[in-house]
Amino acid sequence: MRQLPARWRADATRTAKLRGMPLMHVMFYGPPGTGKTMVAQRFAEYSGLEYAIMSGGDVAPLEEQAVTELHKLFKWVHRSRRGVLLFIDEADAFLSSRKRGTMSEPLRNALTTMLYHTGTPSSQFMMVLATNRPHDLDSAVLDRIDESVEFGLPDVKAREDLVTLYFRKYITQPLKIKPLRPDEILDPKEANGNRNGRFSPKSPSMAMPKREDLLAEDGLLEVARRTHGFSGREISKLMTSLQTHILFSDRSLAGARKRSKLPSWLEKKLLFEVVDQKVSEHHRTAEFQVTGYDYVNNENPGSRLVSPKGGGGLIHSPPRSPLHGPGQQPNINSAA
Ligand SMILES: Nc1ncnc2c1ncn2[C@@H]1O[C@H](COP(=O)(O)OP(=O)(O)OP(=O)(O)O)[C@@H](O)[C@H]1O
Ligand SMILES: [Mg+2]
Repeated sequence: MRQLPARWRADATRTAKLRGMPLMHVMFYGPPGTGKTMVAQRFAEYSGLEYAIMSGGDVAPLEEQAVTELHKLFKWVHRSRRGVLLFIDEADAFLSSRKRGTMSEPLRNALTTMLYHTGTPSSQFMMVLATNRPHDLDSAVLDRIDESVEFGLPDVKAREDLVTLYFRKYITQPLKIKPLRPDEILDPKEANGNRNGRFSPKSPSMAMPKREDLLAEDGLLEVARRTHGFSGREISKLMTSLQTHILFSDRSLAGARKRSKLPSWLEKKLLFEVVDQKVSEHHRTAEFQVTGYDYVNNENPGSRLVSPKGGGGLIHSPPRSPLHGPGQQPNINSAA
């Protein structure tokens, strides 16, 4: 079945409510960082219903109080003239399978109350669940879901849109740094450039990078290509990390101090250093998920370490202090 975008689905909800038709329970599921929470919040706002937003993790700490709170919620539902949408984020923390046997008594009671109130279709109440663990949900909860929408990882085109969006948000808007347009790369007489293909800086104190070393629009497409498997959240975090690197890179900082202004261009090298670092982090995280994590201590006891400062000096491991756990190497520089 073709899946409707959130806005249309929200309009469909609005229409169903106006016609007194039963409202649908919806589940958004997919890997972390793919926009489920973001879309569900907008869905709630557009739906035309009154709405409440909760996280599944808020329920367990309420203990016995959880059932009382749910009864209050359903009193509100019955009183409401517009109908009520309840968005349960991280739904697996509340509505997980009773089979697992680890569920506390109060949480089980809360789940049963929820099931009781959602057993028959209603034109007054709808649930929107978001989870990255749909397989953990109780089968009776899944049975109540009318429509499930998968949020997958973005493909290269969607990543390009995300890279452009978050470059604009975290780099262009706050730092006034833009990728070069194709005509800026080709035309040596362009306002900001000069005839030898170098970019004229606004301040003579700045080093002059070559045009081909500067980020152009096609560089963002290259970022999208290299970030295969990244979620929207990872792309947005890549851009916040790039922002930090720009602000704290030696050259930018020195320039900014002198001119209280950053350059309006970005060297490709800096961008791709950040991208490479994020790609390695992404692979490391993926590996943790597959193989778990076991710390391997590669230190050979009694080995002699070459001083990182050079000069041929050898560092002898100092006697192990009781404060150092097994395998922890004290700071090499302070031992030298
Ligand atoms: N499709 C998207 N468009 C724009 N931004 C996105 C998109 N997907 C993710 N993001 C960015 O990632 C952030 C995290 O998204 P969100 O919290 O909605 O993910 P989620 O799917 O709910 O993740 P989780 O399963 O970890 O809760 C958003 O605030 C937004 O900045
Ligand atoms: Mg979420």
